Amino acid sequence: MISKESILKGLKTRIIGKKVFVFESIDSTNACARTLAEAGTAEGTVVVADYQTAGRGRLGRSWLSAPGTNLLFSIVLRPTLKKESAALLTFYSAVSIARALERVTGKPFECKWPNDILLNGRKCCGILLENSFLQDRFDFSVIGVGLNVNQSSFPDDLGNRATSLLVELGHQLDRTALLQELLRETDALLPIVHKGDVPTIMDEWNSRCLMFGKPVTITHGEERISGTALRLDAEGGLVINTPSGPSTFYAGDVTIVQ
Ligand code: BTN
Repeated sequence: MISKESILKGLKTRIIGKKVFVFESIDSTNACARTLAEAGTAEGTVVVADYQTAGRGRLGRSWLSAPGTNLLFSIVLRPTLKKESAALLTFYSAVSIARALERVTGKPFECKWPNDILLNGRKCCGILLENSFLQDRFDFSVIGVGLNVNQSSFPDDLGNRATSLLVELGHQLDRTALLQELLRETDALLPIVHKGDVPTIMDEWNSRCLMFGKPVTITHGEERISGTALRLDAEGGLVINTPSGPSTFYAGDVTIVQ
């Protein structure tokens, strides 16, 4: 099991990980981080679990992860941003994670809209942001990360869309060392978020996203639309050129049509 002591040993961050809670099993690290944030916990508080009984995914889905094999954690931030800039956090977290994974593995990681990380075209990491606002400003944001590290197989219903670092690299990784690197990178990029420096984050996210200019299909609930992925708009929406003209989506699942 991952321990608090091993995470803190040698962790050289300024804000992220100044307070760490570790659970063998919990309902959801995001739920716990939210409760802590509502009770006033400091920015940078991290909640880690070896297993979740009610892991949450995007769009009301569940996030399943075999016990003791992957990384499941949530970070509390208190961004000094306005509500309109919420999308910056999505892209900031994806870029930080991709950078850290690249440093540890030496492989290129792709960012997929809205907040997945892919290796060799398959999803190894999902990010769930849960924001809370006080009028037009943030009270807190919880960044929840589910990274498939040492899981060797996935349920059939995920087809070949899900993968892990083990499956792609062919060897296990030390989860604690990897978590430390992820926390280090999110910490290093945090000042950029506080400055509201959108271009720095967006330029890197865009360069890691391989769907622009390609034919895609987006599904959201009953809606299913095809077109060409054009760009992101200022709020982080995905602009798709459809047969009836450009259309912007703020949620959904997008796939490149092969
Ligand atoms: C997605 O749907 O792709 C996002 C998945 C996010 C899962 C992580 S696991 C740690 C944290 N706690 C949760 O309940 N969810 C996030």
